[in-house]
Amino acid sequence: MSRQTHSVRLVSDAREAARILVDEIAELAAKRRGQGRSLVLGLATGGTPIAVYEELVSRVAAGRLDTSDFVAFNLDEYCGLTTADPRSFAQWMRARLFDPLAWPAGRTHIPAGDLGPSARARHCAEYEQAIRDAGGIDLQLLGLGRNGHIGFNEPGSSRDSRTRAVDLAPDTRTDAAAQFSPREVPTQALTMGVATILEARRVRLLAFGAHKRPALTRTLGGPAGPDCPASFLLEHGDVQFFADRDALGSYS
Ligand code: GLP
Repeated sequence: MSRQTHSVRLVSDAREAARILVDEIAELAAKRRGQGRSLVLGLATGGTPIAVYEELVSRVAAGRLDTSDFVAFNLDEYCGLTTADPRSFAQWMRARLFDPLAWPAGRTHIPAGDLGPSARARHCAEYEQAIRDAGGIDLQLLGLGRNGHIGFNEPGSSRDSRTRAVDLAPDTRTDAAAQFSPREVPTQALTMGVATILEARRVRLLAFGAHKRPALTRTLGGPAGPDCPASFLLEHGDVQFFADRDALGSYS
């Protein structure tokens, strides 16, 4: 598939991407309110979306944006951590976004990492149902793993995968190691599936830095395939890739 079939936006840095994206989020929220609905966002963790969260928080603080009716679904969570664990994505999201914006727990959703193996499948099915009950995700924000993962859909994940427990790839565990002592790096996570992500009405993937270039080049060059789960986004009708020159390489 050629790059003409999807939109690639070269940005100078994460802050520029954040301004563009938060403009879009504000516009979409106004449209949804006009339809009597709340905006439903799909959110990611990691270093990549931090500038977006900072931009949201600063616009709300300045009285330039109202997010009081937003609903959020996070992509993933490590298995084996309680929601109170400071290394959990649940705590990460609270610190960066949910607490600063005073979003109540009832409107934020993150897969529960602290469930035993026998309870996971049911929880994952309920997570999918909660997304449907909310009317589906209007805009899904994504980062990109160095190995081409989205959420924790590691290489090998299929196009029709759903929210489920997955084994983390060695590269992913290496990247996570900074937050954990070596023996404690999680081996599993719960993640929305590729099919779940592709059902979002808009998908916006962000990638910055030369360390993302191989995965981004593979993603944009196609074809869509499970060796690089992000490449399945090429099959989405409204996907945009925001990247800096270091990540885009020859695509810039
Ligand atoms: C983690 C998350 C992904 C994220 C990726 C990239 O594995 N599960 O959702 O996109 O890391 O992280 P970073 O943005 O820190 O490069």
